[in-house]
Amino acid sequence: MEDATGSTHGCQNTSTPEEDMGLDDDFGPSELGTKKYWDDAYQRELEVFKDIGDVGEIWFGEESMGRMLQWMDKAKIPENAAILDIGTGNGAFLVELAKHGYTNLMGIDYSAASVELARGVLQAEDLTDVTVKEVDFLNCSEELKGFDVCIDKGTFDAISLNPDNTSEVKARYVQALRSALKEEGFFAITSCNWTKEQLLHRFSEGFEFVQELPTPCFQFGGKTGNTVTALIFKRLH
Ligand SMILES: C[S@@+](CC[C@H](N)C(=O)[O-])C[C@H]1O[C@@H](n2cnc3c(N)ncnc32)[C@H](O)[C@@H]1O
Repeated sequence: MEDATGSTHGCQNTSTPEEDMGLDDDFGPSELGTKKYWDDAYQRELEVFKDIGDVGEIWFGEESMGRMLQWMDKAKIPENAAILDIGTGNGAFLVELAKHGYTNLMGIDYSAASVELARGVLQAEDLTDVTVKEVDFLNCSEELKGFDVCIDKGTFDAISLNPDNTSEVKARYVQALRSALKEEGFFAITSCNWTKEQLLHRFSEGFEFVQELPTPCFQFGGKTGNTVTALIFKRLH
């Protein structure tokens, strides 16, 4: 995973499409796949926010939010669309969405410290109409329903690093996503651990691929690759 400063935190997608022979290979377990890691990380960020008002890390940088907002404009997502930010972290994306004019926003995260931080960040911007809830997306059953757009920036990456049964965890994510989205609703994912081909494979059943959003390319040793993949899917019946 890559942060705003370009440093990596568990980002493991450096392969080219030709190398993606294993479309669903699991990564080794990592602390980034544990709740304890995120509780500790957001507790630290919360303390810094309370001290000096710094909102903390924006995963994949500001441009990752701009790219999605641009797509939402082009796709004419209405301002009252129900939008869910899965694993909202510090809520920075919710702030951008609200400032862009979206009025029906919810962020969820399984870390209580993240939820407190996101609420504080929104309040500091006077954005009191945005709902932030402490919810484990993998265990939310019927709680989340009827969303027009579900956004994931780095959360499926983190979930994929879960040290427990990764295959089952990934399958539960897909199930929870299908249940949260309306038919024809959009899923917008930004990932640094999975390539386009791997994401197409993972979200092949019950979803239709809509488009890939352009992300920065790098060249190394004569090969070209992307550090981040951003894809849009649509939920089928
Ligand atoms: C890489 S961070 C990304 C945070 C935020 N989306 C962003 O772009 O800044 C991954 C987030 O996913 C959250 N997360 C991981 N597993 C989760 C789960 N099962 N349910 C809800 N949130 C989860 C973590 O607490 C963390 O906030």
